[in-house]
Amino acid sequence: MRQAWQRRQADALAWRQQKTDCYRIFHGTTEGIPGVSLDRYGPMVLLQLFRPLVLDLDWDYLERWCQEQVGATQLVVWQRRPGQRPQLLYPEQAPEPVWAQEMGQQFKIDAHHRGQDPHLFLDMRCARRYLRHHCQGARVLNLFSYTCASGIAAEAGGASQVMNVDFSAQALRRGEENSEANGCKRQHFCCEEVYPVIWQLAGRPLPARARKRPQTRRVPVRQYDLVFLDPPALAKGYFGAVDVKHDYQSLFKPCLELLAPGGRILACNNLAGVSEADFRQTLERCAQKAGRPTERIRRLLPESDFPAQDSDPPLKVLLCEFA
Ligand SMILES: C[S@@+](CC[C@H](N)C(=O)[O-])C[C@H]1O[C@@H](n2cnc3c(N)ncnc32)[C@H](O)[C@@H]1O
Repeated sequence: MRQAWQRRQADALAWRQQKTDCYRIFHGTTEGIPGVSLDRYGPMVLLQLFRPLVLDLDWDYLERWCQEQVGATQLVVWQRRPGQRPQLLYPEQAPEPVWAQEMGQQFKIDAHHRGQDPHLFLDMRCARRYLRHHCQGARVLNLFSYTCASGIAAEAGGASQVMNVDFSAQALRRGEENSEANGCKRQHFCCEEVYPVIWQLAGRPLPARARKRPQTRRVPVRQYDLVFLDPPALAKGYFGAVDVKHDYQSLFKPCLELLAPGGRILACNNLAGVSEADFRQTLERCAQKAGRPTERIRRLLPESDFPAQDSDPPLKVLLCEFA
């Protein structure tokens, strides 16, 4: 961990200059201890142990090291073994939420959170940086928006409007808090499954089963200039399952249909079992079949705090540009 922090010294200086105080300090998968990660989120450092490990670590010592070297005051340690309830190892009670900043934007961070991230995915900074610089005047659709970090980055990048869609009311509430903390004025929130939203935006009729679900959100046909599409690997819903390995097309195709001329889709796939080449081919084929072939596809790679073993890390963010 000490060596990993040494390697990040130049980056740490750049992050400070860019008003970023959340980043990965140690990426165990490629830096020596698979199943261990150490992340800084503003005043908090989060150590996560994903495998049964015998680690001869003294939490007080590690916390002091974080204070002296990293400048963060509070250490939180979670053990998250597969098939077991997450266990908080240090301190006895998780601290209150804190605020972290990324490229000058504020995000509320929650060490109590059951999921593996405390409400901000650090590896997705590469996409947020792109959005931060390439959204001037764009109408942005943020699908599977979670806590809306990408939507907020898009507004900072000049987006004229941002629609965040997620079926979790809790995630969107956090998104609203984040958005307010950043003085956002152009964020909209839609608490609904992604499928019925993109079908309606694309002008497709809702399937008959929507009648049995009167609460289904109605949205008008509308075009967007940029779609940020970041689905979970696998999720069930009333209107269909999300399955990025076998059926990315069912999400990608309606996005092509609702995309304005000259539009872009940032398509993400975080499944290690799908290579960049396969993912790219799926997108290209789908676009070709839909009569809207891609003009150019280029990959955004996770930033230097997520060093990769090879040139194909699990997170694939493909920027697809269309005529
Ligand atoms: C991997 S997170 C997305 C991360 C987010 N894009 C970001 O940049 O922080 C997955 C999100 O998808 C949402 N979700 C899963 N299935 C969904 C569905 N069918 N419709 C809408 N939201 C869904 C979950 O609630 C969760 O917030």
